[in-house]
Amino acid sequence: MDNPRILIIDDDKDATDLISARLKSHGFLVSVTNIPEDAFEFIKENTPDLIILDLVMPGVDGSEILRKIRLDKKTREVPVIVLTAKLDQSDKVSAFNLGAQDYITKPYEPEEFLARVKVALKGASHGAVAKKIKNILITGGAGFIGSALARRLLAEEYKVAVIDDFSTGRRENIQDMLNHKNFSLIVGSITDETILSKAVEGSDLIYHLAATVGVKNVIEKPLDTVIYDTIGSSIVLKYASAKGIKVVLTSTSEVYGKSKKYPFKEDDDVVIGPPDVNRWSYACSKLLDEFFAIGYYRERALPVVIIRFFNIVGPGQVGRYGMVIPRFFKAALQNQPIYVYGDGKQARCFTYIDDAIDIMLKLSQSQKAVGEVINLGSKNLISIKDLAQEIKRITRSSSKIVFEPYQKYYGSRFQDVKKRVPDLAKLKKISGVTPQTTLPEILKKMKRYFEENPKELDRI
Ligand SMILES: NC(=O)c1ccc[n+]([C@@H]2O[C@H](COP(=O)([O-])OP(=O)(O)OC[C@H]3O[C@@H](n4cnc5c(N)ncnc54)[C@H](O)[C@@H]3O)[C@@H](O)[C@H]2O)c1
Repeated sequence: MDNPRILIIDDDKDATDLISARLKSHGFLVSVTNIPEDAFEFIKENTPDLIILDLVMPGVDGSEILRKIRLDKKTREVPVIVLTAKLDQSDKVSAFNLGAQDYITKPYEPEEFLARVKVALKGASHGAVAKKIKNILITGGAGFIGSALARRLLAEEYKVAVIDDFSTGRRENIQDMLNHKNFSLIVGSITDETILSKAVEGSDLIYHLAATVGVKNVIEKPLDTVIYDTIGSSIVLKYASAKGIKVVLTSTSEVYGKSKKYPFKEDDDVVIGPPDVNRWSYACSKLLDEFFAIGYYRERALPVVIIRFFNIVGPGQVGRYGMVIPRFFKAALQNQPIYVYGDGKQARCFTYIDDAIDIMLKLSQSQKAVGEVINLGSKNLISIKDLAQEIKRITRSSSKIVFEPYQKYYGSRFQDVKKRVPDLAKLKKISGVTPQTTLPEILKKMKRYFEENPKELDRI
C-alpha cells in the first residue's frame, strides 16, 4: 500500500502532534480532527486506510463514533485503532466487539505506535486485543455442539459460562467440566430474562446455540420451537446489544427449505413449506433469528456472525430427537433393525464436530465474518440408505435394513428435503478452511467412540 491515508479523531493536541509527525515521517498521509462531523465529512470524500480514534473525548461518545464507522459502507472494513488515556476491561472488550483492531493507551511510545499501525493496516488484530476476550457465554452449552465448544474454550483458557434448560441437553455432556475452575453452569431458559440478563452481564462474547432442535422434537413441539427459537434468540440479542457484546448465532441448513438449487449458497432464495407442516416451524424460526441478528447488526452495529450448520456429527449427539448417525449406530451395534425413513434416497453432507468447532472459533475471531451468514458444512454427501449400509458394514452387524414410511414416525403431513449440499466458497474465503474429515473417517471415529463408551448406546 503506497502512502496509506490515516484519519485521526482525537482532541489531545500534544499526543496527535507527536503521532502525526512520526507517521508522516514514514510516508503516511495523516489527517487530524477532533470533531466527529468533520471526520464523517472527510470519510465522505476519502476512504481512509486506517482510522485512529480517541474513545474518550469530552462531550463525545467514542463508542458511538465507532458504531457509525462500522455502519458506514465506506468504512465498514477499515481497520480502527482505539486510543485512550485509560480503558477498563469492559471498554476494551466492547471496542473490540465493535470492530476495533487494536487499542493503545497513553503515554504513546512512538516506535511501538508505528509498529502497531503497520499491523492494523494489514487488517490483523493485535494479539493483545484478541486475548482480552476472557468470559464466554454459551447458550445451550449442555448440548452436543455447545459442550464440545465449551471443552475446547476451557482448553484455550477462557472462562466459560453455560446456560441450559436441559430440554435436550445432558449432564453427561458437561460432567467432565463441572468442577473446572473456569466453568460455570446456569440452569434455566434463555427466555427467563432475569437469568439471561445476569448471564450476559459479565460476558465478552456469546455463542448462541440454545434451541429446540431435532426433526422429531420439532414435529412434536412446533410451539416450543417457535417460542424458544425466535423469542429466546431475540432476548439473547437484545441483552447482548445493550452491552455491545458480539453474538455468534447458530442457524441451520434447514433454512434453505425445499430448495432444489444445489449447492445451497448463502444468498439463495429459500423455499419453506406451509405453516401447518410442523417441520417448517424450525426453518422459519431459525430464519427469523437470522433476520433479528442482521437487523441488530445493521441498525445497532451489534457485531454478529451467523453460522448455518449442515448435519454436524460426533460423540455426545443423541438419536432420540431424529439425528440419524447415533440412531443407526445404536441399531447396528445391537443387531437391531436399522430403520430408514422413506426410500432412503434423501442425501446429506455430514461434518465432524472437531472441524465444526475449529471453524466456529475462526469465524468468531474474524472481522470479515461480522454481519455475514456463512454455511458450515462438508462435501461428505451420502444417501441415508447408503449410510445405513455403510454403518452396518463397518460394525459387522447382522441388522436388517428396514424401510418405513416417514408418516409412521412423523405424521401424515411430513415433508422431507431430498438433498442438502452446502456451497463452501464463502466459508473458504472468510475462514481460509473447510472441514477436512472424510465420511469414512467420521464413521470410524464414531464406531470407536461407541465401542469405548458402550453406555452411550443406552442414552441414545
Ligand atoms: N447438530 C447439527 O447438526 C445442527 C445442524 C444445524 C443447526 N444446529 C444448531 O446448533 C445448535 C446446537 O445444536 P445441537 O445439535 O448441539 O443440539 P442440542 O439439542 O444437543 O443442543 C441444544 C441445547 O440447547 C438447550 N436448550 C434448548 N432450549 C433452551 C432454552 N430455552 N434455554 C436454555 N437452553 C435451551 C438444550 O437443552 C440443549 O442443551 C442449535 O441452535 C441448532 O439449531 C445444529
